Formats: sequence, C-alpha cells, structure tokens
Amino acid sequence: MKHLVAPSILAADFANLQRDVEMINESEADWIHVDIMDGVFVPNISFGFPVAEAIAKHAKKPLDVHLMIVDPDRYITRFRDAGAAVISVHYEACTHLHRTVHAIREAGCMAGVALNPHTPVHVLEDILEDIDQVLLMSVNPGFGGQQFIGHTFEKTRKLAAMAAGHAVHIEIDGGVSSSNAGALLAAGANVLVAGNFVFSAPDPRQVIAGLKNLSPE
Ligand code: DX5
Ligand code: ZN
Repeated sequence: MKHLVAPSILAADFANLQRDVEMINESEADWIHVDIMDGVFVPNISFGFPVAEAIAKHAKKPLDVHLMIVDPDRYITRFRDAGAAVISVHYEACTHLHRTVHAIREAGCMAGVALNPHTPVHVLEDILEDIDQVLLMSVNPGFGGQQFIGHTFEKTRKLAAMAAGHAVHIEIDGGVSSSNAGALLAAGANVLVAGNFVFSAPDPRQVIAGLKNLSPE
C-alpha cells in the first residue's frame, strides 16, 4: 500500500483553523495529525477538546491524535467523541500499556504507541499484535519546527524488521521534510507527519502532494 501523509495541524494558523483544515481536505493528505500537549508530559501546552472538536467539525480526513499527556486513559473516550480515528499514547506515559491500547481499540479507534527518541523499539516487541501503529518521535516531543534526529533511520529499520508480519503502521513525527522523507520510506516508514515543512511553504497543498508522491530512496 502507498504510504500515508499526515500534516500536523500544530503548525497551522490557529486564527484561520477552518481555512487550514479545508486546505488539508482539498489536498492529497490521508490523515490530519492532531498534537495534544498537557504541559506535564511535555514542556508545552497545545490545545484541548474545544479546538479538537472544531478541527473535527470541518475535517474530511481521519484525525490522527497524538497524546503527549500523562494518564491518557482518562481521556480516551473523550478524544474518540471529539472525532479521533487513531489515538497514539506515549510508551513513557503508560504504566499499563496493554490495558491502555485495548481501551483505545474498545473505544473503536486504531491504537498507536509513540516512542521518544531515547526509547528503544524493542520495548514494543510483546505488544505489536495489540496495536495498529508505532509512532517514532524523530524530535523530542513538545514543539514543532525542531531538527530531525538522524538516528531515526536506524530505529525505523529496526522497527520494520521487528514488525514484519504484523499489520502495524510505522509513523515518523518531527522534522520530516523532502530531505529525509524518501530515506524514511526506504527504511520502512509508511506514515509521514509534517508540520512546519507543510505550513511554512507558500503552497502547502503542493508540498503535501510532493510528500505523497515520493518514492523510497
Ligand atoms: C512534536 C509534535 C509533532 C510536530 C511536528 O511534539 O508531535 O507532531 O507537530 O512538527 P514539525 O514537522 O514541524 O517538526
Ligand atoms: Zn505529533
């Protein structure tokens, strides 16, 4: 299957959110990546339910919700109700990860697990069959517009080898651009998140099309 592109709404103009969601609707993007930061798990606060619901109201693409929050179990059904199709929680924030990912699936969403740059992929070895996506952070979570961490290529290759035979998306998040996207696909990634690279461009739709039509290199 062709890889997926998920523009990160964190880099949108929040005073023109409807316009930017409609731009994504009209683009070749597959999902809309929605970053939720609580100021505790990460040193930044993004937005909460009213904004997520406003995005969902206009979105014609599935919402890929990335929870950078402590104790995510408390909010799974609320994010489902707010329109999430995919919910990714952080490995580092979940003591009972197996319970959490099953709660996400029981809520009717695809379950993802995100790993910080320092967390090795092998910690997910025994939960791969319970999840639909692994999100590899290629920056330290908390902010858009940071520099891509090169070690992510090796991590992606390791994860792809480990996940062979499992129906698991491999999503890369942070500092993704045309300068690393082709190599990420070649390493085994199949979902590309991009925030600043898309929204800082004069023609974001064209940038999304460029990412969508890349070949592994
Ligand atoms: C970072 C977020 C990312 C961010 C990506 O904590 O999880 O999704 O929005 O933005 P860029 O592509 O600008 O690094
Ligand atoms: Zn994210």
